Amino acid sequence: MKNTEFIATLPVLDLDHPGAQDPAYKKRREQIAMAAVEFHQSSQKKIPFIKYTPEEHAVWRHVLQKLKPLHEKWACSWYKEGWRKMNIREEHIPQIREVSTQLEQINGFSLEPIHGLVQPREFLIKLSQNVMLCTQYIRHPSKPEFTPEPDIIHEVLGHVPMFTHPDINELQQMIGKAAMTATEQQLEWLNRIYWFTIEYGLICEQGDIKAFGAGLLGGIKDLTNALSGKARITLFDLKTVITTDYNYSCEQPQFFVMESLEQTKEEIRRFIESFQDP
Ligand SMILES: [Fe+2]
Repeated sequence: MKNTEFIATLPVLDLDHPGAQDPAYKKRREQIAMAAVEFHQSSQKKIPFIKYTPEEHAVWRHVLQKLKPLHEKWACSWYKEGWRKMNIREEHIPQIREVSTQLEQINGFSLEPIHGLVQPREFLIKLSQNVMLCTQYIRHPSKPEFTPEPDIIHEVLGHVPMFTHPDINELQQMIGKAAMTATEQQLEWLNRIYWFTIEYGLICEQGDIKAFGAGLLGGIKDLTNALSGKARITLFDLKTVITTDYNYSCEQPQFFVMESLEQTKEEIRRFIESFQDP
């Protein structure tokens, strides 16, 4: 795949997106998205430096202040350990460039900017290369507690601490490698596995249910819904996961809790190996 193949057009915001009626927000979002497009078109591959505004930093601080006590209560231990390793800045939005360098030093994982959602196969294949595509724009200030799409808060506060853990990267790589040759049906299964583990997974820790997925760890609404009894939680069951549909742009009604990552990974590995069976 050429570097620019997945850059087709900049996304158009859905009418119910919190920023859809705000021309200044749309322009700013487009400006940051274009920097990502230029990254993929350039041969230098230098992650763009984004000069965030005081208002954008204020959204970051607002969300982080709300998330911190929730993390204290509900984040899994790997997230807390990853947070300490990354020493994420609390007072302002970090630069993806610096975060990526830090991750590379820890375990070789790196980040690349992206303009918005891309085709699932392209996104997953990047994971097979130990690379995560990251948006750099931030959610609309009118709705800081929930974003209908990935943004810098989701990427850094949701995903990044978990990327420091080798077992999580191994799971992502496994899904990413399978995506390279998967049929459309298999790709749909892989997407759902990714969604209900890396994005919205819960995990059992010493009898307590903890947040594991980035959509939970970077999202006030989903995290609260999942762990205060407002959403449906069932034990992770692969057959159920691959047949459960989801809507990425709304608050999630359903979550699966893994008894252990090791056990879940083995189950997924065996399932992926069966793709080769005639
Ligand atoms: Fe994500």
